[in-house]
Amino acid sequence: MNIDKLFEYFFSVYSNPTDKPRVFFAPGRVNLIGEHTDYNGGFVLPCALQYGTYLLIRPSSTDSIKFASNNFDFRCEIKLNELSEKVDNKWVNYPLGIIDQLRQLNIEMTGFEMLFSGDIPNSAGLSSSASIEMVTAYGLTTILNATDLSMVDLVKLAQRAENQFVGVNCGIMDQFAVGMGSKDHALFLNCQTLEYKNIPVLLNGFALIIANTNKSRGLAGSKYNERVAECQLAVTYLNPLIPLSKLGEISYMQFYKIQDQIPDELIRRRARHVISENQRVLNAVSCLYKGDLVQFGALMNASHESLRDNYEVTGVELDTLVEEAQKIHGVIGARMTGAGFGGCTVNLVRKDIIPVFMEKVESGYFAKTGIRPIFYHTEISDGVKEINCKSKI
Ligand code: GLA
Repeated sequence: MNIDKLFEYFFSVYSNPTDKPRVFFAPGRVNLIGEHTDYNGGFVLPCALQYGTYLLIRPSSTDSIKFASNNFDFRCEIKLNELSEKVDNKWVNYPLGIIDQLRQLNIEMTGFEMLFSGDIPNSAGLSSSASIEMVTAYGLTTILNATDLSMVDLVKLAQRAENQFVGVNCGIMDQFAVGMGSKDHALFLNCQTLEYKNIPVLLNGFALIIANTNKSRGLAGSKYNERVAECQLAVTYLNPLIPLSKLGEISYMQFYKIQDQIPDELIRRRARHVISENQRVLNAVSCLYKGDLVQFGALMNASHESLRDNYEVTGVELDTLVEEAQKIHGVIGARMTGAGFGGCTVNLVRKDIIPVFMEKVESGYFAKTGIRPIFYHTEISDGVKEINCKSKI
């Protein structure tokens, strides 16, 4: 991202170039394994990306906040006393949700001019929304000196914003990875207790390649909330046998013995995915410690299979991208990442075959879907931060 260009854009929107804005950055994330486990109190293993959202922000003397982005045409100016209202289906609802949460904590808002600029593809399952939320939360609390809020407080606040303001009952994984990510490490997070460890990711001749289906996730929100409800139903079936409040609380062995008590076959499969995926995360973490990437890749493949057959959140585009990747010698793991229903896959690919991988996956995928995928070579980066631009301006 060219920061000087962003400054130029900022001044073309808001003028007054002698008054420099501060610059914050929040990454997107890719989840290596542990999908649809977070809202079930389970384990996840995401990493922060080098792609993300920049926020240029400057206090203003007006009684309003101005929102602009160079990714979307929609801009607006909202009076401080009208900040709690949603704006149709627009991107500004993410920052507005954060502002709403900050005000609930009695943090007083003042006038600001804000410019958001992202290089994460939208609706691709790489957490562009959590990235906007966290950059807003971190940027505003830094400028307003609300320093008694820790990063984990901001993560929880951003999740509440998405649940209550945006209306998606997401878990905490995305905001946590965006806030707490660490360069060259995966974040092993227990979503029930929020205990976490940074696990070094040593790829030894392999690379993480993200492939975008370029199919936007039309029904993602409603289907996502449907899965959340199905998991809650599974809990009510199992609860009389083993007291539990979330599926992540029981082991696969425990589930295996009592699974027949779930009368509905579909709900049983949903629970099977969550509980087996939880075990896969634990196994994947020990693979990372042992440096056993081949077994790690096998767990990624098994994760995709379960997301396809038990959880049913993949679809033809994601399945095709994964199948085409798995056919290639030198690809040791491939799976969808994020909520599903479109979006991206993550692939563990031997470095010397990356060009072959891209060519073959693209042609197989295009032949079946008529869509061209896009590939990104992932670097694992740090979480949200302020960027010191003194040297650049
Ligand atoms: C979305 C949600 C996360 C998580 C994933 C699926 O990214 O925001 O909380 O549930 O889907 O693992």
